[in-house]
Amino acid sequence: MSSIQKLNQIYEGKAKKVFATSSPDYYIVEYKDDATAFNGLKHGTITGKGIINNKMSNAMFQLLEKNGVKTHFVEQLSDRETLVKAVKIVPLEIIIRNIAAGSFSKRYGVEEGTQLKISTLEYSLKNDELNDPLINDSHIIALGVATEQELSQISAMAYKINDVLKNFFAGIGIKLIDFKIEAGRLINNNNEIILADEISPDTCRFWDAKTNEKLDKDRFRRDLGGVEEAYQEIFSRINQ
Ligand code: TMP
Repeated sequence: MSSIQKLNQIYEGKAKKVFATSSPDYYIVEYKDDATAFNGLKHGTITGKGIINNKMSNAMFQLLEKNGVKTHFVEQLSDRETLVKAVKIVPLEIIIRNIAAGSFSKRYGVEEGTQLKISTLEYSLKNDELNDPLINDSHIIALGVATEQELSQISAMAYKINDVLKNFFAGIGIKLIDFKIEAGRLINNNNEIILADEISPDTCRFWDAKTNEKLDKDRFRRDLGGVEEAYQEIFSRINQ
């Protein structure tokens, strides 16, 4: 793998850049310290976030691989760079919730922190111009965003990830409130659906199990202070 060369940048997102490599089967992702919220309306920097998110995401992807979830992870190359399998991202934000918070609490008028009777799954269409609207299964299939078969693979993968992560975080004193994942179609393997993007405090809500202190990007979104410290706290608990 070390013979693979980093080539031109092919994409820049809000928190990461993606580079082509000397192999069509692999990309290199590079994590930035940039933070945005509310579809880019709020901008900032969280010093050291790129390094933590890169390392944490890789640790989570390796944990998931051990538990039978296929991911894009190949090899961490540096503090901010990781070699990943080349995928085409399915343009959906796949969101699982265990406890009410954020947009769910707002939409349904449910107090943040309310335990949900079942874990929920919802999708948003990844489209910044439309503000990532909620979308249901039949609309996803009708629009050709994903097939029925792909959606059933995606939902099974999302619930499996929830089981593994909820259990892991409970073991280090953290409640997994909710999280967002993205799926990719593996370019060199018949468009097989695998887990892509990242799993980090940018994309999950983590509350301390004892104090309910927020240890995630809500500290940035809501100007709560202690943003860097929260990322550091999660990262050190994972490595304890
Ligand atoms: P929400 O309550 O704002 O809909 O967020 C649900 C989860 O998804 C939460 O863990 C944060 C994550 N998320 C992202 O990763 N990217 C986004 O653009 C948004 C809006 C939420």
